[in-house]
Amino acid sequence: MKGFSRRNFLVGAGALAAGGCATGGGAGVAEKPADGRLIISPPVLQNAAETSMGVGFAVSDMANGYVEYSESSDFSGARKVKCGGYRVTDMNDKIMLVRLTGLKPATKYYYRIGADRISYKGGYAMKIVGSEADPRVYSFTTLGAAAQSSFCVINDTHAQMKPFGMQIDKIADIRPACVVWNGDACNTQETIESLYPIFYTPEIERRDYAAEQPYMFLPGNHDNRGLAARHMERAMMFRQPEERLSRDWDLGRNFAVRCGDIAMVGLDTGEDKLDSRDVFAGLFNMEPYRVAQKAWLEYALELPEIKSAPHLVAFCHIPLYDPRPTANPGDCDKDGGGKYTHDFAAWQRTCKNLWGPLLEKAGCQIVITAHQHFYRYDAPSAEHKWAHMVGGGPELGEKVVNWKTGEKVKVPGKFPTVIEGRVEGGRLRIVAHDVFNKRIAGDYSYPARG
Ligand SMILES: [Fe+2]
Ligand SMILES: [Fe+2]
Repeated sequence: MKGFSRRNFLVGAGALAAGGCATGGGAGVAEKPADGRLIISPPVLQNAAETSMGVGFAVSDMANGYVEYSESSDFSGARKVKCGGYRVTDMNDKIMLVRLTGLKPATKYYYRIGADRISYKGGYAMKIVGSEADPRVYSFTTLGAAAQSSFCVINDTHAQMKPFGMQIDKIADIRPACVVWNGDACNTQETIESLYPIFYTPEIERRDYAAEQPYMFLPGNHDNRGLAARHMERAMMFRQPEERLSRDWDLGRNFAVRCGDIAMVGLDTGEDKLDSRDVFAGLFNMEPYRVAQKAWLEYALELPEIKSAPHLVAFCHIPLYDPRPTANPGDCDKDGGGKYTHDFAAWQRTCKNLWGPLLEKAGCQIVITAHQHFYRYDAPSAEHKWAHMVGGGPELGEKVVNWKTGEKVKVPGKFPTVIEGRVEGGRLRIVAHDVFNKRIAGDYSYPARG
């Protein structure tokens, strides 16, 4: 992974330092760079697949961005792809999103980014008033059956830069084929600009964290809150349409990809409260979304590249299981008299009932979830044959507020995790790294599915 280092980042580092959020705090709003630089972030690889890759980068002014890529580091035979799709390019002053398609599976590509600055004063009054190119050459490798059998998972980063930086450093050590960002990247974001410090200009040492390491973003409940969430695809694009049936055109976050010997399936559990909750003013429509994903999952599990994979791992934000009888299952408005310890979903019984049996029938070895900010492992049981792992949250062992009493209490076992999956000797090994205490919190392995 040449170039994936804090030293090699050349684009706008000084300007970003002034414009980002404070380390350890919530996401602020990126400011326009004082030096007038157009490209204000490194590229962010997203939606890795066998034959496509997404590239995004932030800009400070109206622009028309592009990616040039080649199998050769000298860029011989390079192709240039502009942001947006057919017909018109996606000229905008925020984030350039470029889709590279028709790629070869499990193949290394070199790429670089650039953009034209556009003066737009009307339909007949537009011109290029400057061009900028990031001088760095980056690279990525597509997924597929011949790719490296490895992934990492982070979750519940909540725009907290200190734990996020620890996770990114760990991922830089592991260098997996791809990373699943398993929800709650945001808190409540109202503007696209407020997404910059979360996805594009994080105040961490490795600002180019996703320039050579592709991320698969799966939303959590917090990623549905605020006006920006209604247009999250303007910052982190939807998956390629050809990955799914036309029936499932709107399921742009679901993925079913082959990563070496591992089939990876991503599901979106949505909000953690019922659509009928008054606090949401009737603005959520998660119930049919969950049902639609059942039909998609049935289809995805039968795809030849998924069905033939020796290992199957599913990912979603809200847990699909909780052993505690007091944990709110998320499918009831009232708790019948204080049975549950809080009024939001600790786990998602609806999703478990919709998707769990399909995953079990397909021989899924483990479902990796998030949301509870507390690492936990649930072994397979008669009730669900898949194992279940919950990633930790952003808390660094400090005292946290007890939501019931308002009291600050020390909660042992609170630490952020990087969950690593890889295939060793034909077995799927899942290791949960506690990146705060620098230790392994859990280490499990599974035979190939039968
Ligand atoms: Fe969270
Ligand atoms: Fe959550």
